[in-house]
Order: sequence, then structure tokens, then C-alpha cells
Amino acid sequence: MILMKNKKEYILKNNELYFFNQNNKKKSILLNDNLLLGILSNFDFDNSYISIIDNHYKYYNLFNSLNLKENDAFIIKPNLELIRLYPTNFCNAFCSMCDIGKASNFGIDRLRKSSENEMSIETLTNLLNSKIFKNKKFKFSLGMVEPLLHKNIGNYIETISKKGHSVALITNGILLKQKAKEISKSGLDYIMVSIDGTEKIHDQIRGYKGIYRKAIEGIKTIKGLSPDLRIIINCAISNINYHNLYDFVLELEKEKIYLELQLQFLYFVSENMAKNHNKIIDLNQSVSVISDDINVYNINPIILENQIKKIKNLNTNYINQIRIRPDYSNKKDIENYFDEKGDILKDKNKCFFPFNQVSIKTDGDVLFHSRCFDYIIGNILHNDIEEIFLGEKANIFREKLKEFNYIFPACTRCCGIMAGW
Ligand SMILES: C[S@@+](CC[C@H](N)C(=O)[O-])C[C@H]1O[C@@H](n2cnc3c(N)ncnc32)[C@H](O)[C@@H]1O
Ligand code: SF4
Ligand code: SF4
Repeated sequence: MILMKNKKEYILKNNELYFFNQNNKKKSILLNDNLLLGILSNFDFDNSYISIIDNHYKYYNLFNSLNLKENDAFIIKPNLELIRLYPTNFCNAFCSMCDIGKASNFGIDRLRKSSENEMSIETLTNLLNSKIFKNKKFKFSLGMVEPLLHKNIGNYIETISKKGHSVALITNGILLKQKAKEISKSGLDYIMVSIDGTEKIHDQIRGYKGIYRKAIEGIKTIKGLSPDLRIIINCAISNINYHNLYDFVLELEKEKIYLELQLQFLYFVSENMAKNHNKIIDLNQSVSVISDDINVYNINPIILENQIKKIKNLNTNYINQIRIRPDYSNKKDIENYFDEKGDILKDKNKCFFPFNQVSIKTDGDVLFHSRCFDYIIGNILHNDIEEIFLGEKANIFREKLKEFNYIFPACTRCCGIMAGW
């Protein structure tokens, strides 16, 4: 750090390189990767360094491949872009693969403890009054715990969207039909509805009969009110549904709804991952997701490989995009992913969430993400969000993560690594 004190700083942001010219005037160049490589190869790293404040992953790999060392050649600076909110603290489903549905008291279920049932519009307004939101458009994601259970969800969304920010909603869809009118005019950017398989399998996973139909009817209702609203279906791939994904896509097509589909490998913390983690880090992590029902080590990689291949070769009329996350479609990658050891994956090995986002619970407590070890960095009822994000507790966490090369042992199958929803 001290080394940098006399160095000239260049800033990489939104694919633009900012710098001061000889007359001390701020200038910028819009970059593509080739241009950046050209610049880097002529760059005087003894007298200057580059601060990366977004696209960390991409630039980190690029700098690393050039054998440039962090801190000597570049540093990664925190830059808040995404706010994940908990509009509510409770749920109306019982999903097998979710700590909350299982009320397990482990993993992401731990965060519901001692929290308010709902985030009030006052708390939200208080947050939005921070000066950080004044001149920049932020992304907001309402994905916890079940946002449609909020008594005033239309108003809640509108409070954010009318300030010019983008808002995404992640829901199980049970109340979508009922609340479609209320939210269709609230300024939503897109809705992600979670559906985990064919009607039979989805209802089995989510805990009772009729949830699939409710979600589908909800999507149809809101599409009727706002035909252009972007809808993404998120399907979490587990041992319960992996052999049936192709049939699920066919079943979804039959509903004749224009939408996108994301097939997401399950996130989890295995016993082995938790044990290795807790041995060396004082941020406790529990086993998460794995239970009597969810045993991902039982997934037959050949069957899943075959399902993914068939889906990739399918021509759909209504589903206009199918994404697999991570984009693994061969047996070996699938086998490695669903492995008890939870070893670091070679192409998914860094989490930059703490550098660009926060999650805020119903009671105003702030953490980086729901799987981040209950590490609370502040509370928006007591401090401004910018102060919290750049504060001491946040910095301590980021420094620790950096020490571990941006991945703790319990992180290897977390959405921070997969850069998920
Ligand atoms: C935790 S839920 C909260 C929002 C809402 N209750 C819902 O189910 O859509 C957010 C997303 O995570 C997915 N999910 C739940 N457990 C998961 C797991 N273990 N791995 C990957 N995704 C999971 C859900 O299906 C949903 O799409
Ligand atoms: S996945 Fe969503 S709907 Fe299912 S239990 Fe978890 S929070 Fe509730
Ligand atoms: S991968 Fe990132 S978001 Fe997930 S637990 Fe680790 S640090 Fe937190």
C-alpha cells in the first residue's frame, strides 16, 4: 500500500480507463480487451497502478494472466452497485433444498433470527435517502425471504423504482396472481419466478400440491397486464429433479408463455467444506442445504449430462433463452461440482460480492450476502449505507477474503462464486 503512495492512479470502471493528463485534466478511454492489453504492455508499473472498481473478475484474470501482482500493479476497490433487500422474513413454502423451507436453523435460515417480520417503507425510505443513491442508478434485488408476502409490496417496489433504480423481484410465485395488479405498475425491471421442475416434481420439492399451477397462473396474469415484462424462471438443480429437466422444459413450452429459463446447479455447504472452513477461519459456517432429502452426491453425472445436452439441442418457440449456471455440460465437470469434498472449481474460484453488493435484512442489519457467515457490517437505522459499506467491519472482511485469494473453503458452491442471481 505504502508503495503506491507516490504512484499515479488510473481507474478502470465500466470498461473505461480514467486518468489525468499532463495538464491535470480528467480523461478517459473506452476499452475493449485488446486495447487494454495494448495499454498494459506499454504501462509503466513502477510509476503508476490501476484501480479496478468494477468487472473485477474479468480484469483480475486478465492482470493475473500477465503475471501482474495485485497491490503492485493493480488494486480492487469496493464499489457498491447492487442492494439485495429482505422485504420479509417469512415464507409460505417448504422447499427441500432451502434452509428456510426446512427451518433448519442452519445456513441462510440463521438470518431470520431476531429480525422484524417485514422491512417497513420507513426503513426503506431511510435507506434511499443516503447520498450514495443521489447521482447513480443502482440495482435492487428483492429476493428474501418471500417478498410477495410483504403487505405493501407494490408500494415498496415503487418507492425504489420511482427514484430511478432498477428493481428485480425473486418469488416462489404462490401469490403472484393475487398481487399481479399491485406490482404490474410498480416499475419492476423483471421477475424471477422459481420453478424447479414439472408440476409433480415442483410441488413435491416446494412442499404442497398446487404451487406449480399457482406460479404458472401468476405469470400468465401478470403477462396479461404487462406483456413486455421480462420473466425468468429459475430452476435449482438437485437430486430430486435432475433426471427430469428435459421433460420440464417441454412442459413449460406447452404453457405458451414468452420467458427465459435458468437452470441453476444447487448451492450447498457439505460437511467437509464446513469442517475445513471452521478449522482455519473464525467466521463460522454450518452445513447448509444437505439433508435427508437433498443428497446431491447421488446425482448421476451421465444422466444430468444427457439432460443438459438434450435441452441445449432443443428448439423452443416460447422459451427464448435457456441458461445453465455454471455452464457445465460434461460428465466430469458435473461430477466435480456435486462432490462432497467441495474442492475449488478451476474456472469458478473467486467471490467479489463484498466488493460490489450488500444484503439488508428486515431490521436494517447489513451483511454482504445471506451466506456470508452472519457477518453483520452495520445497520442502516444507525449509520448511512455508504459509511457501512466502506467502514471498518466491511474492510476487515474484504481483507480476510483477499488473504484467502477471494475464496474461503465454505464458499466453493456459493452463488458468490457462481456470480448468481
Ligand atoms: C432463497 S429464494 C428466495 C426467494 C423466493 N422465496 C423464491 O423461492 O423464489 C431465492 C432463489 O434461490 C433458489 N434456491 C433456494 N435454495 C437454493 C439452493 N440451495 N441452491 C440454489 N438455489 C436455491 C430459489 O429457488 C430461488 O430461486
Ligand atoms: S426457496 Fe424461497 S420459497 Fe422455498 S423455502 Fe426458500 S425462501 Fe421459501
Ligand atoms: S462466496 Fe462470497 S457471498 Fe458466498 S459466503 Fe463466500 S464470501 Fe460470502
